[in-house]
Amino acid sequence: MTRTAREYMGERAIEALRRPALEEARGLPASLYTSREFFDLEQRRLFPRTWVGIAFDTDVPAPGDAIPLTVCELPVILVRDDSGEVRVLHNVCRHRATMVLERPARGLRTFKCPYHGWVYGTDGSLKATPFWDGTPDSHRCPVDAADNGLVPVRSAVWSHVVFVNLDGRAGPLDVYLAPMTAELDHLDIQGLELGHRLDWRFKANWKLVMENWEVYHHVWVHEGVFDKMSDEVDLDTGEPYTEMIADGNVMILRYKKTRPPPASPPTNGPTLPRVPTRYEKTAPTGVANAVLPNTTVTIGPVAYAPAIYVPIAPDLTEARMAWYFAPGAATGAEFSASREAILDRWLGPTRKFEDGQGIRAQDHRCMELQQAARCSPVANDVKFSATWEANVRYFQDWLVTRIDARLA
Ligand code: FES
Ligand SMILES: [Fe+2]
Repeated sequence: MTRTAREYMGERAIEALRRPALEEARGLPASLYTSREFFDLEQRRLFPRTWVGIAFDTDVPAPGDAIPLTVCELPVILVRDDSGEVRVLHNVCRHRATMVLERPARGLRTFKCPYHGWVYGTDGSLKATPFWDGTPDSHRCPVDAADNGLVPVRSAVWSHVVFVNLDGRAGPLDVYLAPMTAELDHLDIQGLELGHRLDWRFKANWKLVMENWEVYHHVWVHEGVFDKMSDEVDLDTGEPYTEMIADGNVMILRYKKTRPPPASPPTNGPTLPRVPTRYEKTAPTGVANAVLPNTTVTIGPVAYAPAIYVPIAPDLTEARMAWYFAPGAATGAEFSASREAILDRWLGPTRKFEDGQGIRAQDHRCMELQQAARCSPVANDVKFSATWEANVRYFQDWLVTRIDARLA
């Protein structure tokens, strides 16, 4: 079993990836996108040791709402407990290790294991073990409730995204996210309300999402949204109008003040209220923002569009996507046309991946084309533009470094 990325890739590929001059560097070998062995290595050595997005807090809007999820092939429960706190629990009964929650549920007071009826509170605490010792309340040989609740998964909510750290040993989430928090701190993102939610799957490796954190592809992939290269780069100097920032576990695309005004957001119906601010910030704010390894938190003037990318197989990824708007604008009928226009821009008028329209489907479709090409024997010569693609190499190096860090 491969234990490190270095062992899997070989010294030459590591050296090529890390060449100081970006144009001379070469990207990750193609098999890192196609092989089950490397996928398993990521699932063992990367995802459990970082903070990963798994869902949105609005997926469990009210106390007692719960959904079963799989994280790195482990069954967990996302639940909003009686007190309103969002928790993640291992979905494993403490009696004989049966899945306790099979399907999403609303307004539960307790979880009841389907095998022998052990009962847990929505916070995971053990409430009852009926007839464990032959008595209805197990008074002859009680099970110690303090030691036998559903085991919690370390979790935290940030900007509506539920993050987990499976091994419990990563640093605090606020440290992990620090550069992103600094970028977005002035915005009241947690106060935004859910307007739309959609999941779909596409046939590509999850890493291709993070490698898409560049604007070089915009005019070719996003016809109708980003149409002119003169909006992306100063044609006289060759200087992009976007700052491409990679810092710790985050990547940020931040438009410079010199960027020409972008095409105005769609304005059918009343203009949507802006994302509220907690205090004034005069410097530009990052628009397209990624938290490595699998979460993106894109924000514009009137909408917040986070997405969580769940690796399903080497060549299959699930996109969990949400759109949030200012309080009142997420559901108000008077804003319906404006909301729809925003969603058209992201998802196309049909909201279907297979129709290939809208920013998300256009990106994910292009990732499918990359995935298909990575099966070729001539796909091991990936190059980076020093003008546009430093972030891509940054992510690839981050991946290798993180997988190989902290080996036992
Ligand atoms: S396995 Fe859950 S009660 Fe027996
Ligand atoms: Fe894109």
